[in-house]
Amino acid sequence: MSKYTYLLGGAVALAMLPTVAFAACDANERVVKFSHVTAVKGHPKGEMVAALAERFDEKFDGTMCMEVFPNSTLFNDDKVLEALILGDVQLAAPDVGKFDAFTDRLQVFNLPFLFQDTQAVQKFTESDAGQSLLTSMEDSGITGVTWIYNGMRQFSANKPLIAPSDASGLRFRATTSDVTEAMISSLGATPQALAFSEVYGALQTGVVDGQENTWSNIYTGKFYEVQDGITETNHQFLTYLMVTSPEFLDSLGEDRQAFLDLVADVAAEYNARANEQNAAARQAILDGGGTIRELTAEQRQKWVDVMKPVWSRFEDNIGKDVIEAAIASNK
Ligand code: SIN
Repeated sequence: MSKYTYLLGGAVALAMLPTVAFAACDANERVVKFSHVTAVKGHPKGEMVAALAERFDEKFDGTMCMEVFPNSTLFNDDKVLEALILGDVQLAAPDVGKFDAFTDRLQVFNLPFLFQDTQAVQKFTESDAGQSLLTSMEDSGITGVTWIYNGMRQFSANKPLIAPSDASGLRFRATTSDVTEAMISSLGATPQALAFSEVYGALQTGVVDGQENTWSNIYTGKFYEVQDGITETNHQFLTYLMVTSPEFLDSLGEDRQAFLDLVADVAAEYNARANEQNAAARQAILDGGGTIRELTAEQRQKWVDVMKPVWSRFEDNIGKDVIEAAIASNK
C-alpha cells in the first residue's frame, strides 16, 4: 500500500512547497525516480507527473514505486539527461528545447510562430512525423515515452514591450535551445542561457531584463512579480518530451506495455487540461497584480516579421519533412 510523504530538499523546494504528496516506497519495491523542474499545483507537467506517480504506485504496488522530485530538487534540466543516461533517474520530461545536444529534429517545436494552438501540436505529435521523433535519440541512450503539453510562451521584461524594437538592447533568459537563442537575437536582444530554477533570481537581481515562458510557468515561478509586465505574444508552444532509457524499458519485462499504457492514459487526460490550467494561471497573474499587455493583430504581426526569419537557419538540420508536417497540423 502506498504511503504519502513529501520528497523535498534544498532551499528551492522549501520556497515552492508542493501541495501534492508523493509516495514513499517500501523497502522491497523497486524505486523509479522522476526528476523535473517545475512546480506541482496548477502546473500542467507538475500535476500530470504527480497523477502518474499515484497511479503507478497503485498499479505496481508491492513491486515498483515512483519517487517524484519536482522544482529542480534533484537535477536541473541541463543535468537530468546525463543522469538519465547514467541510470541515476529513470524518467524526466524536459522542455523539447533542451535536447539540442542529442538531436536537431526536436527544434521544430521552437520555431517561432509555427504552431497556432494546442490542437495543432496534438495533431503533429500524433502524426507519423511526430511519433518518429520519440525515437530520434535512441543512439544516445534516450527514448521518448510520450508528449506533455504546456502552452504558448509570452515575453516579459522590466519595461513595456509592445513593438519588437522595445526588446532591443535588453538581455533575456534563454533555454539552451539554439532556435530560442536565435529568436531572441533577432530582436536585437541578448540571450542568456539559464536553468529554469535560476530565472526568478536572475530577473529579481537584474542579471537579465526579461524572459519568455507560458502563463503557468510565469505564475508558478512568480516571474510576474519581478517584471514590469507580460506581453501576450503567443510566439512558441512549450511541449515536453517524457523520456526514459531503453535499458529501463527493457528492464520492465512483462510490465513494459502496462507502463506505457498507463503513461499514455495519464498524459491524454492531463494534456486535455493544459489550456484550462494556463488560462487559470493567466487570470491568477492578473488577480495577483501582474500586468498583461495584449497586442493587436498588426502589432503581433511585427513580432512575426522579425522573429520568423530565423526558421531558414534551422530548416536543413530539423528536416523539411518534419517542418512541413508541423505546418500541416495547423489546418
Ligand atoms: C519547464 O517548463 O520545464 C521549464 C521551461 C523553461 O526552462 O523555460
